[in-house]
Amino acid sequence: HAPEVPVICIDGPTASGKGTLTVEVARRLGYHYLDSGTLYRVTGLAMRRAGLDAEPAHEARIADLARALPLVFNEGKVLLAGEDVSEDLRTEAAGMDASRVSALPAVRAALLALQRSFRRLPGLVADGRDMGTVIFPDAGLKVYLTASAAHRAERRYKQLISKGISTTIDSLRADLEARDLRDSSRSVAPLKPAPDARLLDNSHQTIEQSVVQVLAWWQEVQPFE
Ligand code: DC
Repeated sequence: HAPEVPVICIDGPTASGKGTLTVEVARRLGYHYLDSGTLYRVTGLAMRRAGLDAEPAHEARIADLARALPLVFNEGKVLLAGEDVSEDLRTEAAGMDASRVSALPAVRAALLALQRSFRRLPGLVADGRDMGTVIFPDAGLKVYLTASAAHRAERRYKQLISKGISTTIDSLRADLEARDLRDSSRSVAPLKPAPDARLLDNSHQTIEQSVVQVLAWWQEVQPFE
């Protein structure tokens, strides 16, 4: 635990733009960043490869996998046991598996220390579902980022189409609403704003406007930086 290292938490539902916002805020401040969803995605992939399912009977074995993930982050790529799995992790199926494994309490506990180890000087911007509520409850700034389901589905649609992946807005919207529901109704660390989070709805904002807003809030809470 390193309370002297500043942390900004950016939590929110699927496809709200947390990832893009987090990377950009971190870049401008020269801070490290943590994409905690990737850790659940990698755990989901490791689970599949081990022939396990996200069910209570396999919970302890999946948690063992999560605790010992042979994971390396290298120049924006994610290596699992040396293999570049970055592409596999971004699929809707990987997101759904991540959402399933993340509802298992032993898996969340297994990933706790790894997430906190990202807290290093000069600072950290962390994106996820429970950064402000569970992982870094003492963070100097907590942002809860939302956008309407329609906007989120449309953005995801454009992203996938631009990568040549064919899909429909309706199926994406159904998937993300199913994930929102699972993520916010689970018993451990459900998706919800921390009591001291600032709400940011970016449905009608550009990325730049959201970045400027978060940096302005950070100025407010860090007046001497
Ligand atoms: O942010 P993402 O889409 O990569 O996250 C994938 C899933 O992982 C998400 O549906 C729920 C889970 N998750 C979580 O439970 N807690 C986090 N801090 C981050 C992600």
